[in-house]
Amino acid sequence: MTDHQLSRRSALVGLGGTAVGAISASLLAGAPAAVAAPTTTPATIAAPPATPQNSGVERRVSALLRRMTLAEKLGQLQLLSTPELAQQSLAGAHPCGGVFSVVGAAKLNVLQRLAVQHTRLGIPLIFGLDVIHGYTTNFPIPLGQASSFDPGVASTDAVVSAAEARRSGITWTYAPMMDVTHEPRWGRIAEGAGEDPYLASQIAVAKVQGYQGNDYSAQDKLAACAKHYVAYGGAEGGRDYNTVDVSIQELHNHYLPPFKASVAAGVATVMASFNAISGVPAHANAYVLREILKGAFGFDGFVVSDYTGIQELILHGVAGDGADAAAAGITAGVDMEMVSTNYVDFGSQLLVQGRITRREIDDAVRRILRVKFALGLFEHPYVDESTEVIAVSDAARASSRAAAGRSMVLMKNDNALLPLALGARIAVIGPLATATYDLNGTWSGLGTGAGTTPPVTVLDGIKAAAADPSAITFAQGCDIESADTSGFAAAAEAAAVADVDVVVLALGESAAMSGEASARSNINLPGVQEGLLAAVVAAGKPVVVVLFNGRPLTLQSTHDTAAAILEAWAPGVEGGNAVADVLFGKVNPGGKLPVSFPRAVGQVPIYYNHLNTGRPADPANKYTSKYLDLPSGPLYSFGFGLSYTTFTLSAPRLSSTSMNRRGGRIDVSVDVQNTGVVAGDEVVQLYLHDPVASIAQPVRRLRGFRRVTLEAGQSTTVTFTIGTDDVGFYDNQAKFVVETGTIEVYVGNSSDADQSATFTVV
Ligand code: NOJ
Repeated sequence: MTDHQLSRRSALVGLGGTAVGAISASLLAGAPAAVAAPTTTPATIAAPPATPQNSGVERRVSALLRRMTLAEKLGQLQLLSTPELAQQSLAGAHPCGGVFSVVGAAKLNVLQRLAVQHTRLGIPLIFGLDVIHGYTTNFPIPLGQASSFDPGVASTDAVVSAAEARRSGITWTYAPMMDVTHEPRWGRIAEGAGEDPYLASQIAVAKVQGYQGNDYSAQDKLAACAKHYVAYGGAEGGRDYNTVDVSIQELHNHYLPPFKASVAAGVATVMASFNAISGVPAHANAYVLREILKGAFGFDGFVVSDYTGIQELILHGVAGDGADAAAAGITAGVDMEMVSTNYVDFGSQLLVQGRITRREIDDAVRRILRVKFALGLFEHPYVDESTEVIAVSDAARASSRAAAGRSMVLMKNDNALLPLALGARIAVIGPLATATYDLNGTWSGLGTGAGTTPPVTVLDGIKAAAADPSAITFAQGCDIESADTSGFAAAAEAAAVADVDVVVLALGESAAMSGEASARSNINLPGVQEGLLAAVVAAGKPVVVVLFNGRPLTLQSTHDTAAAILEAWAPGVEGGNAVADVLFGKVNPGGKLPVSFPRAVGQVPIYYNHLNTGRPADPANKYTSKYLDLPSGPLYSFGFGLSYTTFTLSAPRLSSTSMNRRGGRIDVSVDVQNTGVVAGDEVVQLYLHDPVASIAQPVRRLRGFRRVTLEAGQSTTVTFTIGTDDVGFYDNQAKFVVETGTIEVYVGNSSDADQSATFTVV
């Protein structure tokens, strides 16, 4: 667990530590003691109710519900996307419950006045928006934030974004996205925390708490939305919206943990995902929505469909028409329909036909009203237009710059080329060197400041930091995607100029190349950028490649030829300054990769927490699990990242050699020392492996991490507390089992961690 999360441990049921241990203990009492016999507990142990229901709110919800007609109830289930549609709806029989993707305090107040003053019951609207990594101030993309291995970075973004958005009239964000994925081809990998369920859970909880605080009626907080529920990241072939076929154990061990953790942290809403899960589309999937989310997890907020997700049940092939689609969505537990209108169009008819029940409708309305009351909308339906946040403040800029610096990952640094001297003569080259909006990445504001404020370019950031801006030259070389190589010669010339010390080559993807509907089948550097790299390297100067991308790329030639590589992701509004901070050593990079970087796209899916197979890769044995034409393993591993200093980590010390499977705990301590000459950050990582279990277990599973800052020569001890929830797993009956036997503990600074110890679960 991280320091940040330790203070919130009580909320983190299922994330390690005592909370689940205690629950497991009572449920495990009396379980048989046979070695390797699975000790099972029902899936319903998952978590206590998300937020103990506030009796005052419940009374108000019930009173309002009693006054509502069926048409008004169905109206609350409708979410619309334009002011025009909302106006029509508010003037009609089914006044809608919410509007999304409309921005501007004045516009929102106009709509709210219609709802509050001109509908029979005056139920306020909820205003949604995809505030993903900034409202006015753009922060790094979520995948970048996850690279910080610092939940504090994610919560800072959420706190700043929530304040900016709420003061501008938005009350509900469609974030955090917490889709664990093994798919770099999938553009939406940019929006999540990568391939690991534990890291994703920590980041998701930090975001939920940052957006909502303890009380999201506060005028600087938002209702959050855990999305996309569930297994969206498993899209076949990495193609967006695509099918997912997943085993029960994989669903529970891999995809559900961040949702479970977010519900335990009190997330107000959940968004259903576009994909089918083992043949049943998420929007019609009563197992994941009713049984797991609203049942086992105790979620008491509301589930919103994704955009036309209810209507899409027809194309999925599980509904013949809109009425079928509405019936499927309502009975499965999707409470609010986004964009399509099948609930209001067919709700009454379905009720008369007995295909849905009044109880289902009332439950959906109750959930929506509960969140509206919790938001304080009945007391404060309007936003004070004078508080709208239109401009990026200095404080928010500073937070974004710090977040970007903490999110960058140093992947190569031959001969300590970095950091550069402030007086270095630098040729800045590449299609991303003068890019502005591309440094924002996906989801950068629908007309809010996050989308209209140009980020600082790399060239400007370097010039602003350099001792002598006139020592910095520029050549673009090529653009991001075209086949035009006509700029190569000028770029090579700029690099070859006699007094140039070093080249900073800014390469990568445009913002539009990742995010929704942006799958790529080839994840090389796009266009002719590899050619530009070769031309510049041939000029003979050391080359630092700075990468801007929303997914892992295949970087073999970059790795082979560049002297240094800095992964900057899409760093946000202060991108260029944050890059300069790292290049010149004002910030010592300490980020780690939240996702494996494959050597070639043919290795996908490739991820650190895989099963072993019966024939693990062995270069000396042909008949083992590997490719003929590639070394095994990724080019860069999950959890990997360098620093300008060096660290040593001790072997793990365990507080005990055994853990009682009924709620036992063990402390794992690691000494870490900065053995270099400058201060820096290291992320101490703890992985577990259960070598003999009733179902095969991943070779490693991250179960703890902590980012520490140490002065040169300084050392500290990091202690992780692990419990039965860390060693147990879900089986294919969705039962959480804690089995007796040996557990291997690995500590280190990446998923290749090789210092180990063992203990026994008894
Ligand atoms: C579709 C996306 O899948 C979802 O993430 C987003 O929140 C909605 N559109 C609303 O914009």
